[in-house]
Amino acid sequence: MRLPHALRFALAVSLAVGCTDPAPATPDATVADVADVAAPDRAPPEDLAPDLPPPRAPLPAVEGLPELTDEDPDPRVVQVSITAAPTTVTWRAGRETRAIAYNGLIPGPLLHARVGDTVRVRFRNELEEETTVHWHGLRISDLMDGSPAIQEPVRPGGTFTYEFVVRDAGTFWYHSHVNTEQQIDRGLYGAIVVHEAEPPVVDRERLFVLDDVRLDTNGQIGPTLTSGPDVGRGRLGNVLLTNGRTERLTANAPRNAVERWRILNAANARSLRVRVDGARWKVVGTDGGLLPEPYEPGEFTIAPGQRFELEVRMEDPESAAAQLVAMVPVAVGSAVEDRDFILAEVSFEGEVEPRPAWVAPNVTLPDTSPAGALTRSWMLSGAVVDGGVEFTVNGRAGVGHGTHGPVGEPVDRVAQMTPVRITLRSNVSPEHPFHLHGQFFQIVAPELRAAEEPGLKDTVLVRGAEPVTVLTWYENPGRWMFHCHIAEHAERGMMGEVVVIPRSE
Ligand code: C2O
Ligand code: CU
Repeated sequence: MRLPHALRFALAVSLAVGCTDPAPATPDATVADVADVAAPDRAPPEDLAPDLPPPRAPLPAVEGLPELTDEDPDPRVVQVSITAAPTTVTWRAGRETRAIAYNGLIPGPLLHARVGDTVRVRFRNELEEETTVHWHGLRISDLMDGSPAIQEPVRPGGTFTYEFVVRDAGTFWYHSHVNTEQQIDRGLYGAIVVHEAEPPVVDRERLFVLDDVRLDTNGQIGPTLTSGPDVGRGRLGNVLLTNGRTERLTANAPRNAVERWRILNAANARSLRVRVDGARWKVVGTDGGLLPEPYEPGEFTIAPGQRFELEVRMEDPESAAAQLVAMVPVAVGSAVEDRDFILAEVSFEGEVEPRPAWVAPNVTLPDTSPAGALTRSWMLSGAVVDGGVEFTVNGRAGVGHGTHGPVGEPVDRVAQMTPVRITLRSNVSPEHPFHLHGQFFQIVAPELRAAEEPGLKDTVLVRGAEPVTVLTWYENPGRWMFHCHIAEHAERGMMGEVVVIPRSE
């Protein structure tokens, strides 16, 4: 009901004093006059109640993984329950692989929220060992980050409630941060999708969580590695998994449909070269969400920990399906060749009208060439110590994830909102997907990589001896772990901590 203000007020007053005749308040009565008559502390009638925000539109569906159930009716709060427990899976015909999982599923179910939501996760540990849950890529409070350097790990049988506000839209993931070489490899990882307030309109969204596992002849994942090339490279699998499945995923879509594909690499060590066949596609988002400008790379490498978002247009008149293809090196005789593995196939069925290009929300990225940026240089290295391999950053080995407590003296202390250029170099192992918790950064050098790999990232691939420079603004105060996302490297010391001092201090 919309009435002129004076009349509404008069009605309210008359109702409050039990009078059904609105006449006492004449049109020229002042608010003060009327207020004198009214009972002072009555509840406002309904049409004077403050305007409540409209109910929120449902989140766009994301196909690929079942979703965690939101247990809180408040549209701004997503409350879910996650339990880590042993399970078995069939990844090899006739063999039961002993694994561990969140809510019995590998990957764990999708945590789905909208930017600005409060997320509350009631976590229970039913494993026989300690664990924590880390929210990879989310810029939340360090106290909720699941870093065992800060959080006392959750004991077997124990519980912990994680609560945080998701301030960035994008594709993220959650995983164990204790004994990761075993716990992530055996299945403790799941995906997070945080939608934009007004997400780009597409026909469908799909999520592809990529992984590989090394299964022995009994179909089991082996014990923690101690030495040899598997430590040097990290444990590469012999079975590829897409959303936890060994077989090609299949689906249908009408011709001309426009889809948003979110791809995440949860493997311990394997970077994957990926492309899409049979459709027109672009990269529209990276670790930190949508890009200001999509780009068309032809193929891209997704390192462990990283995410890419694609716009896929089912427009190729020559093809019958869009395929997600990974190019994986395999041994052929004494040589190594890249072979195509079709991870997923979306067959064209029916047709819709061609759509205009999607209108992405306005995105601006932080300045990458600010005056007065600080510079840092971090060397990733390793050595044989007491017969085992130890990995280091700037000559220091952080203690393993499994050990609670500081990961050693912080490698750096900086004030929040300080632009810092960090040059990463390595003299050990072919590559290191380097991850910084709680912050985003952009690649700024070499120039070619900066141009070819735009967007916000929380993980960057350090390749061979080629230095790569990233720029971060350290926007999020707290104690932040960084480490190589090859679990075998991180667990053997390739990690450290940065302290970001809040600006107000
Ligand atoms: Cu994903 Cu510290 O990791
Ligand atoms: Cu590494």
